[in-house]
Amino acid sequence: MQSIDFYRSEFISYMESKFVLKEPVNLYEPINYILKLGGKRLRPVLALLTAEIFDGSYKNALDAALAIEVFHNFSLVHDDIMDAAPVRRGQATVHEKWDINTGILSGDAMLICAYQLFENYSPDTFRDLAKLFSTTALQVCEGQQYDVDFESREDVRFPEYLRMIEYKTAVLVAAAMKMGGIVANTSLRNQEHIYNFGLNLGIAFQLQDDFLDVFGDPETFGKQVGGDIIENKKTILFIKALESGSGSIKKELLDLYSIQPGDPTDKIEAVKTIFRESGAAESTQNAIESFTQKAFLILNDLDITDSKKAILNRFGENLMRRTV
Ligand code: IPE
Ligand code: IPE
Ligand code: MG
Ligand code: MG
Ligand code: MG
Repeated sequence: MQSIDFYRSEFISYMESKFVLKEPVNLYEPINYILKLGGKRLRPVLALLTAEIFDGSYKNALDAALAIEVFHNFSLVHDDIMDAAPVRRGQATVHEKWDINTGILSGDAMLICAYQLFENYSPDTFRDLAKLFSTTALQVCEGQQYDVDFESREDVRFPEYLRMIEYKTAVLVAAAMKMGGIVANTSLRNQEHIYNFGLNLGIAFQLQDDFLDVFGDPETFGKQVGGDIIENKKTILFIKALESGSGSIKKELLDLYSIQPGDPTDKIEAVKTIFRESGAAESTQNAIESFTQKAFLILNDLDITDSKKAILNRFGENLMRRTV
């Protein structure tokens, strides 16, 4: 086993060797731009790490890890168009720097590039990876559609919200880990458990993304803080505030979510206060902790050494404390 930093840097070198600028430049430049903008590289690192957790070599997992990261970045390019987001990883989003059509087509090409990477595996592994990937990618689309549908609804409840974030975010984290398991040829039982571990970790990860979107530090977060409030996103904060707030707080929140002011500063501040004072911020923190603990419980079912379980445990603990 190696350190997380080692897997990250091996992954980045591999990615840079595979993605070089080609013609037409207006198709490939935005792809290289978004891929090289940075980011945590959470999913590819998990794919490489998991391959080694199951006694495989991270080198065999590089193509699967790259496929997942390219797909993730494709989903971000299109997500930023859908969410009208100006900033990603501290820089202009693709549709801001170029235009919407560029974002659509470069995104489409990235999705195809992701699939292509599975061709580097033997037929059996190719089949397993491509099958998992297709199911996952379709679920991400479903999650994204729910997310958009919820913008114009006020009655979204927690279970519906959970399904939405499971699909838009958690299944990809889960699939990244399962792919590491597939490449390492681990048992189907281990594959299933590591998938469920990743799924719960992924849910906690998206809950925290919702939290940071409101309470993150604008200097370091890398995205527009308050973006979800501007777009009337039905995040865990909104749902918990409606569940626990008094009648007058509920009315104020619903009123705030029915307006789209030209300058959103006051709306963001007012909603932030409600999220804090209604206890929604605290319940969100508790939910992050509880889904992370749920993931940790699954580690008991995995057929791996205790020291490897400890590595996954530490990874989850660190993820819970992230600020970007
Ligand atoms: C952002 O993902 C989209 C979500 C699913 C929350 P990340 O937070 O992993 O983004 P990067 O890749 O590190 O920028
Ligand atoms: C992103 O959810 C999920 C996907 C891109 C599939 P968000 O819209 O919350 O992600 P950010 O906050 O823009 O990164
Ligand atoms: Mg977004
Ligand atoms: Mg979105
Ligand atoms: Mg978000």
